[in-house]
Amino acid sequence: MDLKTIENIAVDTAREAGAIIRRGLTKQKSLSMKSSEIDLLTEYDKETDTFITGRLLSAFPSHSIKSEESTTEKREPGNQDDDYVWHVDPIDGTINFVHGYPIFAVSLALYKENEPLVGVVYDPMRDECFSAISGRGAWLRSGETCQSIHVSTANRLVESLLATGFPYDRHQNRDNNISQTAAYLKKVRGLRRSGAAAIDLAYVAAGRLDGYWEFRLRSWDVAAGVLLVGEAGGAVTQTDGQGFQLMSQVSLLASNGHIHDPMLAVLKEVNKGP
Ligand code: IPD
Ligand code: CA
Ligand code: CA
Repeated sequence: MDLKTIENIAVDTAREAGAIIRRGLTKQKSLSMKSSEIDLLTEYDKETDTFITGRLLSAFPSHSIKSEESTTEKREPGNQDDDYVWHVDPIDGTINFVHGYPIFAVSLALYKENEPLVGVVYDPMRDECFSAISGRGAWLRSGETCQSIHVSTANRLVESLLATGFPYDRHQNRDNNISQTAAYLKKVRGLRRSGAAAIDLAYVAAGRLDGYWEFRLRSWDVAAGVLLVGEAGGAVTQTDGQGFQLMSQVSLLASNGHIHDPMLAVLKEVNKGP
């Protein structure tokens, strides 16, 4: 199957999953805790996950799925598609969803041997679907329109709008991004914390943000977004400046490319300590 067909299936799947989430926004939710008291799960994370994994496995029976809420082995073992893995975050931005704060997304990405092929981030509240195909570019679909997207041209921190996020263990762990955030705040035009890493990366790709960094994310948070940024002309590295590799835990810096080194320099300065 060609990548364009796969992208179309991923876009349709994300849009339908988004409709489930949209319907749940104003409903009473049952909450359970995950890694800590502030890391929550709702029945909608589960329902969306079941929908997405079912849909992807029926379209691609030989692929595997690594979802935040479940891990599904491929249905037909021993096949030549062994290395194709979907990284799925059914609701990225669950805390926002729980509070009725309308910023969250469905994030889906297909990788082969750790290389991204297709990525989709869908924001159901704005009906904005960001997608990318390796080597072919990145797009934003909204309603019936589809346009290609590109990173911004800002080349100084003082003219940049950045975003970041904070890990769920931040109450206990002193390595919680607070000193890095304080350092950036003194240098940039603006700083946002959307609460959805997939949206942050999609916005860097679309030129709405100039850069984004976050520590200790999981593969499903960023798998689609890093492809979007790369295909929109931006840069993604680890926060220490090393080449980016999708691993189960990742600390990453994504930017329009022009402010990448100045952003890395801020992190390096903070690491040196007072
Ligand atoms: C979280 C969001 C948040 C980021 C956290 C992620 P979740 O994902 O992307 O913006 O700061 O690190 O875990 O739990 O809502 O899927
Ligand atoms: Ca997430
Ligand atoms: Ca999630």
